[in-house]
Formats: sequence, C-alpha cells, structure tokens
Amino acid sequence: MKLLKCIIQPHKLEQVKDALNNIGIKGMTVTEVKGYGRQRGHKEIYRGLEYNIFFLPKIQLDVVVEDQLVNEATKAVLENARTGHIGDGKIFVMDVQNAIRIRTGEEGQDAL
Ligand SMILES: Nc1ncnc2c1ncn2[C@@H]1O[C@H](COP(=O)(O)OP(=O)(O)OP(=O)(O)O)[C@@H](O)[C@H]1O
Ligand SMILES: [Mg+2]
Repeated sequence: MKLLKCIIQPHKLEQVKDALNNIGIKGMTVTEVKGYGRQRGHKEIYRGLEYNIFFLPKIQLDVVVEDQLVNEATKAVLENARTGHIGDGKIFVMDVQNAIRIRTGEEGQDAL
C-alpha cells in the first residue's frame, strides 16, 4: 500500500475527489493547509508596500491505495489537479506498512 499525499489547489478538490472515486478508492482524508513552493508564495502590495505572502492556502488530500491502484490514482490526481499554472501542487508517495480497520480488526488491503 502507498500513501499519496497530494497538495492541490483548493478549487480542484471536488474534481480530484470525483476522479479518485471513479477509479474505486475507498476513502480519503482532506485537510486545509498552508504552504509554499519554489516561488515562496507571491508578492502582494498593501498600502504601497510590498509584502511577501509566503503561505498560500492549499488542500492536502491523503489517500491510501493498494499497490495495484497507485499508478491510476496518481494519474487521476495529475490530470484533474493540473491547471498548468504555478502552484498546482505536488504528490508525495510513501510506503504504508499496515492499515487496521478499527470496527472489524481487518488488516492490510482489506482494511482500506
Ligand atoms: N518540497 C516541498 N515540501 C513540502 N511541501 C511542498 C514542497 N513543495 C511544495 N509543497 C507544497 O505544495 C504546495 C504547492 O507547491 P507548488 O505547486 O507551488 O510547487 P512548486 O515547486 O513551486 O511548483 P510550481 O512551479 O508549479 O508552482 C505548496 O504550497 C506546499 O504546501
Ligand atoms: Mg509554486
């Protein structure tokens, strides 16, 4: 299993969520986050002074998928989160050792 930690533009959440549901992922966790990438946020003028707004609002979408679905899930996020402009986000991929479904005690892929 892998954890896809996807940082995306907030307005892309619905579209990405629908695309992931369509390929059969079982669940996801969504968090409102702030962050910056290579541009370090953006510059903004306020009362004639220039400020660096480092932290821009993003959505973090955590989805644990079985190995078979990793490529398809990655593609779904890429295709649906991309606008082609800076700040589109990133996907970080991590190994997941185990998952346990608390209600039933199922483990591994069965627990997803
Ligand atoms: N190296 C990183 N580590 C952790 N989080 C990151 C990293 N790079 C980007 N992020 C997160 O992803 C968000 C979006 O990053 P962003 O898409 O701006 O990356 P980028 O490298 O600047 O690419 P682009 O040039 O397309 O803007 C950031 O606001 C931050 O939350
Ligand atoms: Mg950027």
